[in-house]
Amino acid sequence: MEVTFLFHALLIVLQISAGEVTFFNAKAVVRQSGDYFIGGYSSGESAEELRSSFKYGRVIDIGTGGELPDGFRIRDRYDFAKRLYLPEGAGRPGVYYCDVMDVRFQTVVLSLDASILPESHTKTVSWGENMSLGMVIKSTTISATQLKWKHNGVDIEAWNGQSSITITSAKPSDAGIYECYSSEEQRRNGLHGFMRLIVRGCPNGKYGVPNCLNNCPSCYNGGICNAETGECVCPPGFKGNLCKEGCGNNYWGHNCDRQCSSHKSDVCRSRLLCLQDPYGCSCQASYTGLDCFEDCPQGKYGSGCTQTCHCTTGCNKETGACNNGGSCITGFSGHNCQVSSSCSTGFYGELCNYNCHCKNNAACDKNTGVCPNGDCAPGWINLDTIDSDCQQDGSVKFGDHYTKKVNPGEETYFICEVISNPVIQQTHMMLVNEDTAEYVTISDYYTRDTYIAVGNYSGVVVNSTRDFVCHVPHEMISVAITTQLYGKFHSIYEVCLIRA
Ligand SMILES: *[C@@H]1O[C@H](CO)[C@@H](O)[C@H](O)[C@H]1NC(C)=O
Ligand SMILES: *[C@@H]1O[C@H](CO)[C@@H](O)[C@H](O)[C@H]1NC(C)=O
Ligand SMILES: *[C@@H]1O[C@H](CO)[C@@H](O)[C@H](O)[C@H]1NC(C)=O
Repeated sequence: MEVTFLFHALLIVLQISAGEVTFFNAKAVVRQSGDYFIGGYSSGESAEELRSSFKYGRVIDIGTGGELPDGFRIRDRYDFAKRLYLPEGAGRPGVYYCDVMDVRFQTVVLSLDASILPESHTKTVSWGENMSLGMVIKSTTISATQLKWKHNGVDIEAWNGQSSITITSAKPSDAGIYECYSSEEQRRNGLHGFMRLIVRGCPNGKYGVPNCLNNCPSCYNGGICNAETGECVCPPGFKGNLCKEGCGNNYWGHNCDRQCSSHKSDVCRSRLLCLQDPYGCSCQASYTGLDCFEDCPQGKYGSGCTQTCHCTTGCNKETGACNNGGSCITGFSGHNCQVSSSCSTGFYGELCNYNCHCKNNAACDKNTGVCPNGDCAPGWINLDTIDSDCQQDGSVKFGDHYTKKVNPGEETYFICEVISNPVIQQTHMMLVNEDTAEYVTISDYYTRDTYIAVGNYSGVVVNSTRDFVCHVPHEMISVAITTQLYGKFHSIYEVCLIRA
């Protein structure tokens, strides 16, 4: 009895995957009047069970309130969808979530009447990348000098007066909601610009947080590699492990089993579809623009038209397949002519969609991303034994730090290792006695590997338990080492009792 029950429970857990959910928005940019809904749509065998776990709310208050707007309604639809109807009015714009088991899906509801609009609803970057977030001023009465910014609800004065901000070397702490506004009243009415930044926990092309030692598969058609699991999250309109298969005919969902409407064509125009992080939101395949209203321009295809066609005959805007059985242009081969024979400098992989970080912008190996002589650009290191491909975070951090255990009154030494590229110089390493606030003179400094600096502070007499702190002052980071003392007096001589 019990065994059967457990077995059954296990089966349910195995069948349900948050990857089978799409957060669907009836319109990518919406008026504040008229009917409007967003909602989770599930796929697969357990669609109905998945749906029963959907929970809605607002992620943060972007000025229009922290709770679901007064008068919201939740309605089941078919056996796989649960719609959240957002009432008319100024409270409608915002950032909403749909929690599915323990996975959070998020969407950004923008107002068509806004005075400021973001370049896109969401943007995804990988660890260590530089990127900019841009806003477009729609109102002629607002000038860029009036603009103010918030990150996750906190004012960032350094960005005042800018319509585009740049984030260098992205870290997970940069993720979240960015708002740009010119007055508080505009914020309260949801008429300002806001968007979501997603930061993958690993460099582009790597997965396995936190060490990021594994290589991502090649995710086709704009799919994005999940930094935790290494799985490709496929854009709406594509399916399969590597997102190779296009659904076509306005179909989307994990198995291409959902459609915007079964009795009309062109019905996915102006919809927005949001997937699991790190994907975020985009238009259905073949549409682009903030409002998802435009068709892909010539030579482009896919969700948001981000993909480039390499067929002699042009390609299908939804799936990327070559029109009329065409062939690939020179330099391209493979599925839908997406495999490139060579990558431009700074990129590698089958699809040339992963970044490499070589010293002096040298080209890396097309297949492995490995740099000439393993030399990395500043900020990147290779410490792993799997690849030497400069894909680890090379910003300053402490490696090993320890002290020798002694009796009170004896001399000890402290070891601080600092990992970084470029390697930390002796003059930038400090050890301070927290008790007396005195600096300890370094007695030995050397480098181990290309990127590890070792400081040895020896000859320090310690009488009691104290914190000594390693500093890298110009980087403002530190780590504490507590003196290690023997509890009872510890003799280096062993005393043997010999009994007669
Ligand atoms: C990011 O920008 C900084 C500052 O402009 C630059 O030094 C660095 O090389 C850039 N990093 C990447 C990965 O492009
Ligand atoms: C640090 O210096 C002490 C004293 O000279 C020495 O015994 C110890 O091996 C050194 N340790 C390291 C890791 O350099
Ligand atoms: C340790 O104790 C000895 C003897 O009491 C004293 O002379 C010395 O100054 C103390 N050293 C420190 C670092 O507290």
